[in-house]
Formats: sequence, C-alpha cells, structure tokens
Amino acid sequence: MVTRKSIEEVLSAAKIEEVVGDYVNLRRRGVNLIGLCPFHDEKTPSFTVSPAKNIYKCFGCSKGGDPVGFVMEHESFNYIEAIRYLAQRYNITLEETQLTDKEKELRTVVDSLYIINTIGKDHFSKNLWERQEGKNIGLAYFKERGFRDFIINKFELGYALDERDDFTEHAHKKQLNTELCKSLGLISSSGHDFFKARVMFPIHGISGKILGFGGRTLSSDKKIPKYINSPESEIYNKRNVLYGLYFAKEAIRKHDECILVEGYTDVISLHQGEIQHVVAASGTSLTTEQIKLIKRYTSNIKIIFDGDAAGVKASLRGLDMVLEADMNVKLVLLPDNDDPDSFLSKMGTEKFTAFLKENEEDFVFFKTRVLLEDSGKDPIKKAGALKNIVESISKISDAIKRSLYIRQCSIMLDMDESLLVRETNKYIKEAIRKKNMDGTGRPAFEGQDEGDWITEKKAPRQDDYVPLTTDEVQERAVAQILVRFGHEWFDEANQIHMANHIIEEMEDVIPFLEDVVCQQIFSLTQDIIEKNETFHHQVFIGHEDEFVRKFAVDALSYPYEYANWEKKGMLLQTQKMPDENYLRESQNAILRLKLKKANRSIAAIEKELMTMHPENHDADEYMLQIKVLQALKKERNEMAAYLGTVIL
Ligand code: CTP
Ligand code: MN
Repeated sequence: MVTRKSIEEVLSAAKIEEVVGDYVNLRRRGVNLIGLCPFHDEKTPSFTVSPAKNIYKCFGCSKGGDPVGFVMEHESFNYIEAIRYLAQRYNITLEETQLTDKEKELRTVVDSLYIINTIGKDHFSKNLWERQEGKNIGLAYFKERGFRDFIINKFELGYALDERDDFTEHAHKKQLNTELCKSLGLISSSGHDFFKARVMFPIHGISGKILGFGGRTLSSDKKIPKYINSPESEIYNKRNVLYGLYFAKEAIRKHDECILVEGYTDVISLHQGEIQHVVAASGTSLTTEQIKLIKRYTSNIKIIFDGDAAGVKASLRGLDMVLEADMNVKLVLLPDNDDPDSFLSKMGTEKFTAFLKENEEDFVFFKTRVLLEDSGKDPIKKAGALKNIVESISKISDAIKRSLYIRQCSIMLDMDESLLVRETNKYIKEAIRKKNMDGTGRPAFEGQDEGDWITEKKAPRQDDYVPLTTDEVQERAVAQILVRFGHEWFDEANQIHMANHIIEEMEDVIPFLEDVVCQQIFSLTQDIIEKNETFHHQVFIGHEDEFVRKFAVDALSYPYEYANWEKKGMLLQTQKMPDENYLRESQNAILRLKLKKANRSIAAIEKELMTMHPENHDADEYMLQIKVLQALKKERNEMAAYLGTVIL
C-alpha cells in the first residue's frame, strides 16, 4: 500500500494546469486557463482550469475535479493508479507500507516482466526493419496487406526470424532472466525461440505497456497454427485484455461507442482507415472483464461479425452478458467471406462507415429476427426461440428499456405482449433467487492492469445521485457554502473559522440530513474539527467518493467566477467576488434548512398528538409533546420572520 504521507506529497505537488496541460492545449483567460474539453466534443472551449483552486471544470459536460480526478477520468485509472501516474510525473518516489516480502518479490518480478517484453518488442521490430529476412518477408507481407509505415510503427509490429535462437541469444546477451523469459513465452520450455518465422503483434495494456504477443505465421501450411499467442503470465490475463484498447480509448470516449472486431489485423486496418474506436477480443469470446473495460469509456458497443452465419448464431448467447452490463449492443454482419480488414480495403473508409450505419441492428432485434427465421413454422422451435429471446431481455436491468424491447419483440414474434412480460418476469425472479442463493458477494472486477495487483476498493455505491426532496436542496446550499467558505473567518478576533461555525450551528440537524453527499461533507468536516486540523477543500475534491468530489468541484466553481464568462470575459475575473457576502449567505442558508427541519418536526409531532388521548394514561407525555411543539413553533416563527425580512 502507498503510504498516506506519499499520497499527500503527490497531492500537494500536482498542479492542475500542468497535469491537464499534458493533454490539453490551455490558454490563459483571466485568472484561469481554458481549452477544449478532452471529455466531450466541442469547438469552443468550455473547459476551465483554475490554478488557484487546483481544479478543472467543464461547463459543457459538467465534469470536474482535482489533478487526481482528472487523471482518473482521462486514463480511466482507479485512485491508486492515478497517484502512481502523478508520482511518476513529478518524480516522487512512493513509499509503500505493508508490502510483505512476497509482494515485494512479485512487484520486482512484474517490473522485470514488462522490461523483458519491451526488449522483445524492440528486438522484433528491429528484425522487421533492419534484418534482411525481416524486410523481405515480414515487412513485405505487411506492405502487401496495405499497412503503411506509420501504422506498423504505431502498433509496434515486428518479426520473429526463422531461427532457432535469435531472440534467445539476444536475451542472453542482455542478461535477461531465462526463467522469466520462459514464463512470458518468449523462450520455449526447451530453451529456444518460442516465436519463429512469424510477424509479431505486441499486445498493449491500457497504459501502453506490452503484456504479450500474438504471432502470425506466413506459411500457408494448414498444419501450422495461424496465430500463436503468449501464454498467460503474471502480467497477461487474456480475459482482461482487449487488443487495441490503448490506441482506441480516446476515440471510444469521443465517439461514445466501441467497435468490436475479431482480429488483430482488423483493428490495425480500421485504425489506418481512421476508424480508431475499435478493439478486438482476439482469440477469446468476449468476457465480462473485457466488457467492464469497455464500459469505462462507453456504454455503446457495436460488434462487427465476419460474414459467417453459423459463427454468428453461436456467439449470440454469449452476448447476453453485454446486456447484463447494461450496454447498448448493435451488431453488423459483413458480407460472406469478408472480415473488417478485407471489407475496408475493398470499400474505402467512407463506404465502409456508411455500410456500418445502414446495416447495424440492435442485438435483441437481431437475435429475434435470426431465431425467428430459423424456427420457421415449427411451433416447438418457435417456443424455444421465444424463451431464448425473453431470457436475453430479462438480463436488461433498465425496466423502461426492457418494456420497449418486449413491445417490439411481441410485434416481431406476433405474440401477446403480456405473455412476454410474464415470461420475462419468470427469468428475472429466477435470477434473483439464484443470486440470493450463492450470496452474490463475488468480487467485482477492479480494472486490474499492468502490475497494479494491489486492488483498490471503491466506495460502495451504485445508485445515480439525484437530489429528490426540497430538504436536499437546502442541505446542499449549506454544504456548498461550507465547501467554499469553510476556510474563511467567521470571527477572526476569536479565531473561529466558518467551518467551525457552520458545524456548530448545524450540530442538531446533521443527524437528520437526507442527502448522502451532504452527510459526507459535514461528517468529513466534523472529523477535521475534532482532529484540530485546518479546513481545506482539498479533503473534498480529492475524496475517493466521486459524488463528493463532484459536489465540491461544482460548489467551488459556482457561480460567480465562471458564470456568463463568454459575455463578461476578463472583467469578471478582476472583479472582487461577492465572497464577503458569505456570512449572510450562510446564515440564511442554515436558517432556511433549520426552518425546513423544524416544519417537519412540527408536522410529525402534530401527527403523533392526534393519535394520543390526553385523558388517558399518557397525559404527561401528551403535555410534554405540546410543550415541545410550542417551543418548536416559536423557534420556527422567529426563523421565518427573520428570513422573511431578509428575503423580502
Ligand atoms: N486467432 C488466434 N489463433 C488462431 C486463429 C485466430 O488467436 N489460430 C485470433 C487472432 O487474434 C486473430 C483472430 O483470432 O486476429 C481472428 O482470426 P482470423 O480472422 O483468422 O485472423 P485475422 O486477424 O483476420 O488475420 P488475417 O487477416 O491475417 O487472416
Ligand atoms: Mn483477416
């Protein structure tokens, strides 16, 4: 584990304008910097960086956060991965605690494995470009397929010579650990080259490190396997890898769609044709882990199937899990005997893209159509098809989406909608029953990648965070003020900060807060005060809970500094912000919230009183409640009166 101290060191070193500046072209605008948002497509910049607050905020797509948050968002890293990235960026050596000897050993092994793979990749690449055999055979082959130099370089393609010990000797020369080379499958168990006379496709992890290789033979001998791949290793788990994702992730986010193809060469060809949001599961059928990887970037997946109907049908069932992951799935079937690579070469990018557009079909409808065609007039087959389709639909967690599918499929199947609903519900119930039986609790995939075998626990929350009640609106108003002005003086003479003041004022209300994020904001502040630490908004904008982070960033960037920027421009930046109003603002917000809560208590007590009988045994209790009620009402009226004069 990385020590708290190290994390803090990284947090204080990381400057938002530098971290963002590595990715985004920033221009100065007043006290802030602006640029084109890397998270959504835009032509006029609404992406803002505030060096003073050390946060970024996009007013187009509403993303925002601190340097760590930016890296997490941009690279789809988890918290620790982002810290590691920033540590590297700022040359900070991270202190690690609680690493057992075994873990330390593993860590150095993992590092070495990456180094060896890099050496392998460089070697194969050198073979391809510089050795006679590589040029004549490997490079010639790629060129013949239409791969241009830039794409060969980008994907770091290479060539393994047709020799017994070409790489093995190189490894010896470089004094690489033979056992590690064997575990990576670069050297065979008998101590010679594993890849021979093959063009080499390095497989990149999310951040570009080489996890393994695929090697394609150039021989037409059917007995020789067309591809051989690196074996699974400490750093290569096929289930967790999508070929091309490293090169595609940016484009996937931009297009809000991921195209899935079958082969290495398909990915590379499409890239060359400037269709860059494309990956391949390469060699395996799609796994849940791979789906989760894609889901980091988009919920829309488009699967291109080579024109081979039998193969398509076989893979239909496997696709239910994509629905389960709440992804929107489209399928495109290519004409017979074409794969994306060959089809693109024939058609060119424009026609290819148009073909995809015209021929894409929703997965559920596709499946319904295919199964229906398949069953013809046979009623038993049709019943089977129905079950099959309904089972797929039952995997969709969004009820609205589900009912839309049911309606459409009932038309396609010419069946009563209510029957489909009933059948779907059966599957849902069954799934729930099963889930409860195995206790669920299965560990969620945590984006394991590239040696980050220390998994980070995310805060357990899946619900979308939507404020619902008016209480929450008031609660948020106070929490916002707390985040923005907590560090200011409430009473400088007595050294009381706003944070202390607000917490003290809110003490009796805090237990009744409804908004979960507000609860966290207040309880984090309580912690700070209890520990006698200084209040700083960093606690929130660097918090592990994304909802806390977002709340804080929104609070900090709202509303004076950025509002109406385009219109007012620089002027606003140099004006004094109306921050001096924070005293009155906070007073009002707290009162409004308390008024709300008081009204609620009053209503509750009144309701309770209605059920009591003053003549009976609870007379004392009754009187007590009446007194409480009176006190509350008095307080309420005072607050209302005060607010009334202030508001009006
Ligand atoms: N594959 C594999 N092992 C094989 C055959 C295929 O791992 N023996 C995987 C490879 O990742 C390959 C993908 O399945 O990229 C699709 O196979 P195929 O369509 O046969 O290969 P292409 O990538 O289309 O290669 P090419 O265009 O050179 O024929
Ligand atoms: Mn192909």
